[in-house]
Parts: sequence; C-alpha cells; structure tokens
Amino acid sequence: MINGSTVLAGVIGWPIKYSQSPRLHNKWLSVTGINGVYIPLNIHPSNLKESLKVLPKIGFSGVNVTLPHKERVLNYLDIIDPLAKRIGAVNTIRFGKNSEIIGTNTDGFGFLQNLFQYAPTWNTPKSEVALLGAGGASRAILTSLVDEKVSQIRLINRTISRAERLANDVGGPIEVFSWKNIRKTIEGCDLLINATSLGMKGQPDFAFPMDSLAKRAVVTDIVYTPLVTPFLKEAQKFGFKTIDGLGMLLHQGRPGFNLWFGKTAPLVDKELRTYMLEALEG
Ligand code: ATR
Repeated sequence: MINGSTVLAGVIGWPIKYSQSPRLHNKWLSVTGINGVYIPLNIHPSNLKESLKVLPKIGFSGVNVTLPHKERVLNYLDIIDPLAKRIGAVNTIRFGKNSEIIGTNTDGFGFLQNLFQYAPTWNTPKSEVALLGAGGASRAILTSLVDEKVSQIRLINRTISRAERLANDVGGPIEVFSWKNIRKTIEGCDLLINATSLGMKGQPDFAFPMDSLAKRAVVTDIVYTPLVTPFLKEAQKFGFKTIDGLGMLLHQGRPGFNLWFGKTAPLVDKELRTYMLEALEG
C-alpha cells in the first residue's frame, strides 16, 4: 500500500519500457516488506538536467541511470565518487539531504559478483583476460578487472581508437587489439568476456573459434536477451564454463537498493533468476 511514508526510487532512461530494474527492485521491496516503490521514468535527454533537479525535491531518495544517460549525467552531478569518475559513467544516484545529486557506478561490481558466484575459483592475480568491446559496459568491466589486479587484459574492439582511449583513461596492464586474428589474440586467456552488443536480439550474431583459450577458461557475456547467446553456445561446444549476463543485472542493483531503502537487498539466487526470466521470455 502506497502512503505518505512510502520511499520513492526509480530508473531514468529513454526509452524506459525495456528496463528490467522495476521488476527487480519491486520484487525485493515486496520480499523485504519495505514501504517503498521503484518507478520507471521515461526521461528524454533534453529533460535530463531539469528532472535530476526536481526528483529529490518531490521526495525521491535516488534513481538508477540507464541508456542513453549514463555518461551525460556526469555533467549534472554535485558529487561523483572516484570510481564513477574513473569509469566515466554513472548508473546509480542518491540524493542528499539538501537535494545534492551524488553519483556512483555499480556495473563493475555487478559483473564481478556474477563472475565470483559462478566461477568461485577464478584466480584474479594470475588471470589473463580477453575483453571484447570498448563501450560504456566495457568501461565499467575493465575498471573492475584492473582493480582486481588481474595480470593482463587484452582489449579487443572494432574501432581501435576507442579502445586506445579507454585503455589510456583506465590505465593498467591493458593491450589493445582489433578483431583481426582473434583466435591468436585470445590464445591462453582464462577469461573471455563479450561486452559488445553483438548477439543481442535484433543485433548481428557472432561467434568464433575459441579453441585457443586456456583449458579451464570461463566465458561470459553481458547480453542476456537471449540468455544463451550464440557466443556462449560456441564456448559450450568447446566445454568451457559459461556465465550468462542476467546475473550482472541482478547484482548491480543491490548497492542501489541499500542506498535508497536502507536495507540490504536479498541475495541473488535461483528463485530471483527464474522470476526475472519469466518476464524476459514472456
Ligand atoms: P554499451 O554502452 O552498451 O557498451 P556502446 O557504447 O554502444 O554500448 O558500445 C557497443 C560496443 O559494441 C562497442 O565496443 C562497439 O564497437 P565500436 O566501438 O567499434 O563501435 C561494439 N559493436 C557494436 N556493434 C558491432 C559490430 N557490428 N561489430 C563489432 N563491434 C560492434
């Protein structure tokens, strides 16, 4: 029941109708019994600045930020935490007592938590990683991998200059490659990540021979529609452990929930995955 004490949070994006975050957070709210609500907010880029000013004044405690605002929103924040600054994008905002707009980024956290949940023995200091893509998602993942002190990252992107800029921005043991000779480029890597939009419903498919990866490699995709992408199917053919992208979405939501509603979100488990999948497949 919504009443005068209901805590308000939400997600801003354009278009917002594909966002799965309202389903996720409202599920957590009902499980925890918190008097709160999480609302999808369809905010056009031309209204972004104004909306951010208004939301705390009408009682919102914070919002998630999704496409296409994740980078532009940096211009309108009062406080940006150092991690979000390094990543160059924000996905979680909390409003302060005096309506300050405070931004952080939990995408890298979500990525790592998902990886650790399904590949608990992944050994970061020894890991050689191949990361495909240099867009917004890749920025967060790359930063989290550098912070985990992995031994080497091979950053592969169609547009080399974009990957070089990203490698420079983040810094660390990163080498940049094009898609050419990909089989050779990923040789010996024990973690292969697709952080491009390829393989997503409506986007071109892609897959390539992965036999040059290390024997016990883990292969993961940020795409979760479909849940098992052609990229993951290819990895399964070679017997590699695969991790789909749904878990990253679920895990990245937990810190925001805690910030806005003051309670830790329930753990990400099979039941939650099933609940989220019902909407994705339906
Ligand atoms: P996001 O913020 O979700 O990461 P993005 O910033 O648009 O989205 O980045 C998309 C990524 O997918 C980029 O790495 C992009 O490569 P470019 O930097 O060369 O554009 C990659 N990508 C998208 N379509 C692609 C395609 N057809 N072939 C190769 N890479 C593609």
